[in-house]
Amino acid sequence: MRIAIIGAGDVGGGLGAAFAAAGHDVVFGVRDPGSLKTAAALAAIPSAAAVSPAESVEGADVVVFALRWGAVPTTVEGMPSLAGRVVIDAMNRIDGDPARSTTQDLADLLPGARLAKAFNTIGFENYTTARERAVPAAMFVAGDDAEAKRVAMELAAQLGFTPEDAGGLANARALEMMVIVWLALAQAHGRGVGFAVSVG
Ligand SMILES: NC(=O)c1ccc[n+]([C@@H]2O[C@H](COP(=O)([O-])OP(=O)(O)OC[C@H]3O[C@@H](n4cnc5c(N)ncnc54)[C@H](OP(=O)(O)O)[C@@H]3O)[C@@H](O)[C@H]2O)c1
Repeated sequence: MRIAIIGAGDVGGGLGAAFAAAGHDVVFGVRDPGSLKTAAALAAIPSAAAVSPAESVEGADVVVFALRWGAVPTTVEGMPSLAGRVVIDAMNRIDGDPARSTTQDLADLLPGARLAKAFNTIGFENYTTARERAVPAAMFVAGDDAEAKRVAMELAAQLGFTPEDAGGLANARALEMMVIVWLALAQAHGRGVGFAVSVG
């Protein structure tokens, strides 16, 4: 698949490297193709390119948002409609309106997009190393669109996570709150810690 990643910071770069290792074509959509973080992301994936967010989504099968949440409205303003396209939200809102998820922001800003929340409940360092874990980490996926959820779960599995259906889009905020728990666990266990589901 061709995957456009909007943002080439820690999360965008980490996901890009993991998707590329899984055989996907990765293109970054960024405000500044010359930024240090974009350069680092490109250095890790020789086949990837960095273009504007509007250019990056041309021909992309999947669009992944990996921006600081406050940058989403202005970034989306310059992009074409993503109606009917699979869009995965990997972001977290740590401050701002405590009742809203970044996925709800995307739903409002991108009418008709097929949205799923995923890849937000673990530190970015773990995207490329998920396959190496003795106990696979869960990757929770929330969304109301069956196809978006299927694609996000398939990508999570390709990276080495155990995809878990975490319910509808309304649960995206709950997944963001899980990061607060993840950060506490990381204090005790280090940033390699991940959630796993135990079925009794
Ligand atoms: N860090 C983690 O382990 C982790 C894990 C899961 C989810 N998250 C969430 O994922 C999102 C990204 O986090 P990150 O750690 O990747 O952050 P980051 O390393 O700071 O990268 C942020 C990205 O957003 C871009 N950006 C920032 N301000 C912008 C603006 N005003 N306009 C356009 N682009 C802008 C940056 O571009 P420039 O290079 O041009 O500044 C960069 O590409 C956040 O919502 C975070 O909460 C983080």
